[in-house]
Amino acid sequence: MNLLSSSVSWKKLSALAEETANDRISDYFAADPARFDKMSLRLGELFLDFSKNKVNDKVLKALIDLAEHSPLRQRRAQMFSGDIVNVTEKRPVLHTALRNRGQDSVIVDGEDVMPSIRASLEKLKGFSEQVRSGEWKGYKGNRITDIVNIGIGGSDLGPNMTVRALLHAKHPDLKLHFVSNVDGQHIKKVLKSLKPESTLFIVSTKTFSTQETLLNAQTARRWFYKNAGEDADVGQHFVAVSTNQEAAMEFGIRQENIFEFWAWVGGRYSLWSSIGLPIALSIGYEGFIELLEGAYEMDQHFLNAPMEENMPVLMALIGIWYINFLGAETQAVIPYDQALHQLPAFLQQLDMESNGKSVDIEGNPVDYATGPIVWGQTGSNGQHAFFQLLHQGTRFVPIDFIASLEADEQTTEHHFALLTNMLAQANAFMNGDDSDGLLDYQMCPGNRPSNVILLDRISPRSLGALIALYEHKVFVQGAIWNINSFDQWGVQLGKRLANEISRNIEQKSQDYDPSTQGLMELVRAAFERQDSGSKK
Ligand code: F6P
Repeated sequence: MNLLSSSVSWKKLSALAEETANDRISDYFAADPARFDKMSLRLGELFLDFSKNKVNDKVLKALIDLAEHSPLRQRRAQMFSGDIVNVTEKRPVLHTALRNRGQDSVIVDGEDVMPSIRASLEKLKGFSEQVRSGEWKGYKGNRITDIVNIGIGGSDLGPNMTVRALLHAKHPDLKLHFVSNVDGQHIKKVLKSLKPESTLFIVSTKTFSTQETLLNAQTARRWFYKNAGEDADVGQHFVAVSTNQEAAMEFGIRQENIFEFWAWVGGRYSLWSSIGLPIALSIGYEGFIELLEGAYEMDQHFLNAPMEENMPVLMALIGIWYINFLGAETQAVIPYDQALHQLPAFLQQLDMESNGKSVDIEGNPVDYATGPIVWGQTGSNGQHAFFQLLHQGTRFVPIDFIASLEADEQTTEHHFALLTNMLAQANAFMNGDDSDGLLDYQMCPGNRPSNVILLDRISPRSLGALIALYEHKVFVQGAIWNINSFDQWGVQLGKRLANEISRNIEQKSQDYDPSTQGLMELVRAAFERQDSGSKK
């Protein structure tokens, strides 16, 4: 038995789960007309309504108690101050330092890292202004019109989602493209529309060793030489964002065009670093700073707000209540905003690569559930895809609805329909429908909880706060589950086997299970046919 699941506060919550099993959320509102006011919070441009959750005052108090008896406070102080919180990789975790807008220093190995963070921001400023103004020229003297970010995971999802969410603020003469999948169709589709003389490639890879990114970068370089000529200046059209300067230079990128960041920035937490270069290129340096400021404001809230008024803490605790006591396996994230359609994919890596763990920070197997399966799609599309299961299925699926109050120009009528649909769905999930005369198959049981996050508008500031809110929610859950949210050893096995199989497939290796061997043979034969076909 782990300390956590044998603790008094954990057992109290188990008892409360039984005690409240038949409670209805709607009854909580009937019992307390002030529930909405009590269970909603505002921070800057972000409003959180957590009143439609299956928690009463006793449950909330017991959850806060669980947090107070957990390593949360200590772990939070350790993270912000640069202690080694990523214990298996023996690293600090300092994405918060990247957006530190205060004057305090942050010490790593006895050195204040803030000066180098500010220097990297200055470099980002200078370069993004050069490209956006047209001062940065291609090998023919053209200004850059297209930028291709080549990266995957945290070197793609964060910048990609943010650029997409803020398209309304993008530079009118710059187009951002993102290539991530090793499937050649991805880069082929992007390159088809581009001209080498006006295209800039950003090779974004923390380690500069990720197979997909290196293969895509090599294909991009081959395309460049083929179309620009063997003596064209690659250095003018390829920059890198990496912690591995040596490998980037070996690839042919000039040292001055390598945007460095640090090992203490996790990939899924890195959009605030130079990995955010595509964001600064798209919305400008000032916009990028506003993004950092929005996140910084959420950091200060997370650090200073009392637990019972602390957005990340409350979202994390209510999530723990659902996962560990009410049996939720998944968490749905449904942005009612097309600009946020990539947010679920970003949050999948953030949450599932952080808390998809089954061993605690001391190395003991856990005997309780940890990170949920995070999934989602934009509303109102989801209403025509999977809401049937959410309304009448057998599974308990907590939902986060996210929307912005301000409509883009000329879309007021659409935006009104979008928001009223979201309000209707959150209400329907809570109240259900068991009206007289309805047949069983027509009834909706309701009592299905949701959070509603409303942004005044989708701005760099509000988006920065939203992303930081989820980063800290994930952190709080990891701290209470006593796991390491900042390593990802589970992804190494697949990487190693992929390299091994691609080497062994020719030798018809017998080192694998019959299924893998059989499939390897099918792939080998197919490529042999294609190879001989291409030689005819
Ligand atoms: O998915 C594993 C992972 O290491 C992620 O954590 C990371 O964001 C991604 O691969 C890409 O890594 P890199 O930026 O080093 O190419």
